[in-house]
Amino acid sequence: MPEGRGVTRRRMLGIGGALGLTAASGLSASAALARRPPITGAELRSAVTLPPPFQTPLPIPAVLKPVSTSGGGDHYRITQREARAELLPGVTTPLWTYEGSFPGPTIESRRGRAVTVTHRNELPVPTVVHLHGGRTPAASDGYPTDLVLPAGWPDAPSRPGHGSGHGAPHVMHDPRAVVTRLTRDYTFPLDQRATLLWYHDHRMDFTAPAIWRGLAGLHIVRDDAEAALGLPAGPRELPLMIADRAFAADGSLAYPSLDPTLRERPGVHEPYLGGVLGDVILVNGAPWPVHEADAARYRLRILNASNARHYELEAVTDDGRRLDLVQIGADQGLLATPVTHRLLPIAPAERYDVIIDFSDVPIGSRVRLLNRLGSGRTREVMAFRVARRAADDSTIPRTLATDLPAWRRTDAVRVRDFSFRAGRLHGGHGWLIGGLPFDPARSDVTTRLGDVEVWRLIADVHHPIHLHLVGFQVLSRSGRPPLPHDAGLKDTISLRPGEAAEIITRFDGYRGRYLFHCHNAEHEDMAMMANLEII
Ligand code: C2O
Ligand code: CU
Ligand code: CU
Repeated sequence: MPEGRGVTRRRMLGIGGALGLTAASGLSASAALARRPPITGAELRSAVTLPPPFQTPLPIPAVLKPVSTSGGGDHYRITQREARAELLPGVTTPLWTYEGSFPGPTIESRRGRAVTVTHRNELPVPTVVHLHGGRTPAASDGYPTDLVLPAGWPDAPSRPGHGSGHGAPHVMHDPRAVVTRLTRDYTFPLDQRATLLWYHDHRMDFTAPAIWRGLAGLHIVRDDAEAALGLPAGPRELPLMIADRAFAADGSLAYPSLDPTLRERPGVHEPYLGGVLGDVILVNGAPWPVHEADAARYRLRILNASNARHYELEAVTDDGRRLDLVQIGADQGLLATPVTHRLLPIAPAERYDVIIDFSDVPIGSRVRLLNRLGSGRTREVMAFRVARRAADDSTIPRTLATDLPAWRRTDAVRVRDFSFRAGRLHGGHGWLIGGLPFDPARSDVTTRLGDVEVWRLIADVHHPIHLHLVGFQVLSRSGRPPLPHDAGLKDTISLRPGEAAEIITRFDGYRGRYLFHCHNAEHEDMAMMANLEII
């Protein structure tokens, strides 16, 4: 274990409070942990002084300007490069970035207007870009072996590693991989519902540490129907990318990689097999930020970009009231009708489109966004300081959308079962789907374009399951009706421990090779991924 990266394992060992274990005692604790299955990952503990909450202003990621807008589409360029940023006040943190910032720049686009992004890889390792939630032709979907190699990287698509145990690479030669050097054009038709997407790295075996180092950004798709609704907009629409991180003594982001160069040996140290958690909550890259708000309605476009941390968000006023979180949209766009929450669970990779109303909040007081699943500092996420009265002509229409699919069980041409469970991988620990580790060469699901299917997903511990290309609806959870936050069209479902959920979808859009996988990024890197071939 690297120095200055002691671990706390409050939940598992029942240690309360903010006291972490030292790195030395962390080792013996990890030995004890090795005998039991990793239920949740261990939490890294930062070795720098952390700022008090609600002091740093909330940054809004810059919207990227296209380099050209001709021919019915927009063309962007993004350079993937190392950069330094001051995420914590007075601390310089080296990052891997899209275009020099974390989060990367936001791309704003219109439904049906094609976007091409030329990515240039100036990082020291291969990368892959995936637009999460995009209805994207397979060639641009970021299949994990479709690498963009950096300038000096050897020609073979993947280098054999020398690891053993759970760190053994399961990259094998993939004859279908399309590898490019230095640059690649990704084309996104964006012929899909208006919603918040995000782009992130998807490199075979190394997705989790690459996202952790900063390779994530937002992509918003808009359309006229949504614009006509009168929802809060402009400065009253806020993207919130929530992600936990931890900081080493030198200011770098701590991460328990077996190979910190991320060149050869994938995997993380033993205590983190269940997923990597940090002790700092960043929103748009700022620690526990604060945003000065009008006493009016706001539209919060929330993404959980954490590798493994789940949240249950609540908005609490200084006088202890919980404000309604009125959900208007899910991963794949607007709901048919709003759903009101007091507590909003959000798993890694999920997005929630939420309206919050500050009009009754006393001027000068705060509304804190808290995480009920956190403890100590990770209970806090961010705050709004309600600064002034203001006119508000926004509305939340009772009918938000009328274009949601009406799939019924009887439409399904087949039902498939998948288990998501811990298992053995190369003699060590892995995370498996249907008992198997990911293999690019194996066909797991083959379905016909246009087929409707019901999938039954069974979990051992928490697994946020994501399907590429398609949106789906939740039919049931362990034989009971879906939960309130399952409403609408989703691309990621949070399976809870021991749960068996049913989802229904139609595989339309494009033929080709896609994926489904757990979006606990460490589980994903430890082989909890499978092929989805649409023919
Ligand atoms: Cu957000 Cu396959 O990923
Ligand atoms: Cu995806
Ligand atoms: Cu998982």
